Amino acid sequence: MKKSNFKINRTKLYHKLINNKLVYDNKSLNRYKKDINQTLTNGSKDKLSRLAELKVKINSIKNCELKKSATNLVFSDGNPFAKIMIIGEGPGANEDKEGKPFVGRAGKLLDKMLDAIKLNRKNVYISNVVNFRPPLNRRPTDEEIKRYLPFLIKHVELVNPKILLLLGSTALNALIGNEVVISKARGKWVSKKIGNVNPDIIASFHPAFLMRQPDQKKYAWEDLKMIKKKMSELKIKFNG
Ligand code: URA
Repeated sequence: MKKSNFKINRTKLYHKLINNKLVYDNKSLNRYKKDINQTLTNGSKDKLSRLAELKVKINSIKNCELKKSATNLVFSDGNPFAKIMIIGEGPGANEDKEGKPFVGRAGKLLDKMLDAIKLNRKNVYISNVVNFRPPLNRRPTDEEIKRYLPFLIKHVELVNPKILLLLGSTALNALIGNEVVISKARGKWVSKKIGNVNPDIIASFHPAFLMRQPDQKKYAWEDLKMIKKKMSELKIKFNG
């Protein structure tokens, strides 16, 4: 997607989320004149509103210890129309404060990793296994993962990425299964249906782990190169 289109889409999404029918237009004379319904195609409108609905659904989860102790729901960041979706574990303190995934130190490293293969948050979409911060950054329990899994599967279905990158063992175990450890599972393409979609899936090390074990970054780099190669095979453009 072109940079300008992405900006317009993001503005439209924002207006939609705040239920505002007026869309800011760059042309001075037309400002605030266009109706969002005239400018988004049906497919993309549907996708954005279904994502907004999913967000509302997650936010209305009841009797959840994670939600009780969290400040904000952390739903996603990036481009909902991206062909690459990235799943982390769960929000940390910074993410909880800002309501956005991967904005803390691990997020800065993730941005660098993406940049190494010419990607950024305008051409990927990012979410987590759980959408509320586990207290003291503990791992989400199996029960919590199980509870959020239907939301995660729905999220992947709605985004419908061509490539799904799972960062760390929590995302790997949630979506692929418990049989393998991340050091064995990383760097391999996996074929598995997630709900009703069928992305090419690859697991890699979580950036927080790489900050603790920088000698493992060479493996993460191998995985990133595999993603770059797959993008070219699938004809995914770097700006798309
Ligand atoms: N770690 C994660 O797994 N997700 C975030 O959003 C931040 C840190």
